[in-house]
Amino acid sequence: MKITVVGAGAVGATVAENIARKELCTELVLLDIKEGLTEGKAQDMMQTATLLGFDTKITGSTNDYSKTAGSKVVVITSGIPRKPGMTREELVGTNAGIVKGVCENILKHSPDAIIIVISNPMDTMTYLALTSTGLPKNRIIGMGGLLDSSRFKYQLSLRLNCNPSDLNAIVIGGHGDTTMIPLIRFATWNSVPVTKFLTAEQQHQVVSDTMVGGATLTKLIGTSAWYAPGACGAALVEAIVRDEKKLFSCCVQLNGEYGQKDICLGVPVVIGKNGWEKIVDFGLNTDEQTAFNKSADAVRNMNNVLKTL
Ligand code: 2OP
Repeated sequence: MKITVVGAGAVGATVAENIARKELCTELVLLDIKEGLTEGKAQDMMQTATLLGFDTKITGSTNDYSKTAGSKVVVITSGIPRKPGMTREELVGTNAGIVKGVCENILKHSPDAIIIVISNPMDTMTYLALTSTGLPKNRIIGMGGLLDSSRFKYQLSLRLNCNPSDLNAIVIGGHGDTTMIPLIRFATWNSVPVTKFLTAEQQHQVVSDTMVGGATLTKLIGTSAWYAPGACGAALVEAIVRDEKKLFSCCVQLNGEYGQKDICLGVPVVIGKNGWEKIVDFGLNTDEQTAFNKSADAVRNMNNVLKTL
């Protein structure tokens, strides 16, 4: 089985490395427009194969999509990352054209592919991938909510001084500093609600630290993060190729679920061999639903920008 990762920047290369380490496919293609970049990164990764013990064959391609033919899953990371002080939304003008072109080229050679979108602004790029390709909605998945949920668990683990693996916590809504909604009411520490252990002020702090999780890293590193985004991209691929039926927060098309339609937004979904297979209704309370609607308004405004490009 073949998997393709488009975009060989830090995020794309880390997705690819994680896919290879987990041996999620026999063939992995890394594609980028920059001459030689993917050939070099593919060789570098292949030279770790005997040390790390994986058999996945990684090859690079400088913009030759024929090499990606027959891919089961394609992960799109192309586009420019944000710089310190920038929002993800400021990338829309540049990244929309790139993501649209990548989708067209991918489908020429892999018409049955499931597409995972990581490029920012992720909710709008997922919507663009869906509307521009006309693919069945289950085959287009935006990765943001999984990453934000992972950051939420990290923040909770710091506050609770506990192992993040013992936590269950999910972030829904948009993948933006002001549009994501960490659902603290549903977060548990080995099935006990975390709200039992944290004051209202501590809960508020965890939620706000989660929301600026990506921006904090961009400020520290000088560019967008890649280890967690890369691991999340690979975890999504894994759930698909191993038909894991994992419940992840992902950006998918809503058709009345969570009170929204004609939009792609983060909600809890079951991921398996068909892409996203089912949306799970958590039953939001009034405050959470209000926040979700506000998030949808902001994402819809950003989607409207697509019409002006
Ligand atoms: C982030 O939040 C890449 O959007 C991604 O780090």
